[in-house]
Amino acid sequence: MKARGEKIAVLTAYDFSFARVLDAAGLDVLLVGDSASNVIHGHETSVPITLDQMIDHATAVVRGVKRALIVVDMPFGTYQGSSEIALQSAVRIMKESGAHAVKMEGGEVVIESVRRVLSAGIPVMGHLGLTPQSIYKFGSYTVRATEQEEAERLMRDALLLQEAGCFAIVLEKIPARLAARVAKRLTIPLIGIGAGAAVDGQVLVTYDMLGLNQEFSPRFLRRYADLDKVMSEAFRHYVADVKADRFPSDDESY
Ligand code: KIV
Repeated sequence: MKARGEKIAVLTAYDFSFARVLDAAGLDVLLVGDSASNVIHGHETSVPITLDQMIDHATAVVRGVKRALIVVDMPFGTYQGSSEIALQSAVRIMKESGAHAVKMEGGEVVIESVRRVLSAGIPVMGHLGLTPQSIYKFGSYTVRATEQEEAERLMRDALLLQEAGCFAIVLEKIPARLAARVAKRLTIPLIGIGAGAAVDGQVLVTYDMLGLNQEFSPRFLRRYADLDKVMSEAFRHYVADVKADRFPSDDESY
């Protein structure tokens, strides 16, 4: 798709019903993101979600998908520091969920794990720029790689991941000009989130683009629906109908 100049559309999915709708809508890739930690489990960060929880989400997503590529985030603590643990974690994801690939955050610092997982024949997507699993190291969710040193490190990391054999890289919240430079230099696709338009595809967190979290409104987020409003109205309507004995009607009864 990159070679053809065709942009790659990616959104996150965490369950069967959303995966079915997303797949039918023509998404190229569904990412079972560890953002599930925030938007599904209500944690403040992506740090607490476990491997078992990610496998559960991925298994449900796989059941709803006929054609999209399914990539699963390896959660915090399942690949950093030990390539042996990384391999075991990735093998569990692939065997138990039936997904097609895994994603890991970081460049040089996780390269041994990336290589080990790739050596087992498991496709790996990289993730550079803002890497939410390291939030306690960074201290904030601000734009990354605005200084030259960090920008150069990001370019080196991207090349390293490509050389290792990653099939794509997510670039999160970095200046658009830097993302454009990386996209030009690399032959593998770069999927941006808050990285401008000159990359090979875009990803958003589905619940955020549907307007389910009104408090979260970073500059890069375009809301395609106001589901918070739609759902609240439907739920209020239902409560009112039940209280007023308007539901169920005779037609809705046996
Ligand atoms: O977990 C996630 O949803 C992600 C995307 C934001 C890229 O990693």
